[in-house]
Amino acid sequence: MILVTGASGYIGSHTCVELLNAGRQIVGLDNLCNSSLDAVESVKKLTGKEFPFYVADLLDEESLERVFSENEIDSVIHFAGLKAVGESVAKPVWYYKNNISGTVNLLEAMQRHGVKRMVFSSSATVYGAPDEVPIREDAPTRTTNPYGSTKLYIEGILRDLCVADPEFSVALLRYFNPIGAHKSGLLGENPNGIPNNLMPRLCQAVKGQMKELTVFGTDYPTVDGTGVRDYIHVCDLARGHLHALKKIEKDFGIFVYNLGTGKGYSVFELINTFSRVNKVEVPYVICPRRPGDVASVFADPSKAKTELDWEAELGLDDMCADSWNFIKDK
Ligand code: NAD
Ligand code: WQD
Repeated sequence: MILVTGASGYIGSHTCVELLNAGRQIVGLDNLCNSSLDAVESVKKLTGKEFPFYVADLLDEESLERVFSENEIDSVIHFAGLKAVGESVAKPVWYYKNNISGTVNLLEAMQRHGVKRMVFSSSATVYGAPDEVPIREDAPTRTTNPYGSTKLYIEGILRDLCVADPEFSVALLRYFNPIGAHKSGLLGENPNGIPNNLMPRLCQAVKGQMKELTVFGTDYPTVDGTGVRDYIHVCDLARGHLHALKKIEKDFGIFVYNLGTGKGYSVFELINTFSRVNKVEVPYVICPRRPGDVASVFADPSKAKTELDWEAELGLDDMCADSWNFIKDK
């Protein structure tokens, strides 16, 4: 059985669907600080399958012990964590406690129960401002905010664990920019409060929940001056977890993979595609660069293709259509 932490979250819920559709047994855990039980119900509806779900906090060791005692867990896919870059700058201690202490508690519970496999949600944020693009997994890592540091520290903890215990196996998945939603419109990203990321902000601007989208900088050395990113459909990303799980079920040690498409799109390209595909106007205004942003970030995803037999299949049109289909009537 696979324990999925952060199972009701954006990427976690889509991955639960992939796992259940592949015939895997799962148990979900989430403290619902950034998600709701609706996502769990949607996963059950979409797959026609039941699974145990615990409303539990990784910081609560007793609850964790209960999850491990009551279920025959053999692998963990670890999504649970806080992910807002700006909030992490304002509340660094809270981010270190939640993300790092939460992961340490989880690893202790795994050790008590002899569970030695983990797929971990890392992020392209560990590359900081990259020296070159496309980014390979062996590029230098550096972080520019406490959120990114939590990812890098956790990667380090997992590396140390794999050295200490040669029977441990870990896949560190460095996601690029996940967008899109399940085709059904039942699962997607609906962040609480004012979102930071481009796609949810763009959707709010189209819906009139925000006056206009702020385009952060048109003076980058890119195709049209706006920032370039590697947007990846959340369903492609979710599928990548199944491939990573198969890898660590077969091999011991630590493995690092970029999960991206390998293609970079600018902010204007995303706006224009969204407009064309969904037949809507995207009101926007040009603003100065956002502090901390870099010009261009996109993956070299060839290692995941070679070693995991995984590659992204869905393009920017699907990402824009599915994001809008999920959020337009919310
Ligand atoms: P999300 O916020 O939708 O999901 C994370 C889930 O973890 C939420 O449901 C939240 O309630 C839960 N959670 C947080 N702290 C917890 C705790 N202490 N105990 C139990 N549950 C807790 O975010 P997401 O976009 O699905 O991201 C999943 C993972 O992928 C995160 O670790 C995130 O850092 C990482 N990641 C996300 C992105 C992105 O842009 N979405 C990019 C790279 C990496
Ligand atoms: C994308 C592009 C902005 C908002 C962040 C995290 C990273 C990862 C993914 C978790 C950039 C531009 C944005 C807006 C804009 N998360 N933009 N107007 O910054 O690449 O990555 O999310 O691990 O760690 O740092 O994503 O969606 O915020 O920005 O012009 O209102 O859109 O400048 O070029 P980013 P993003």
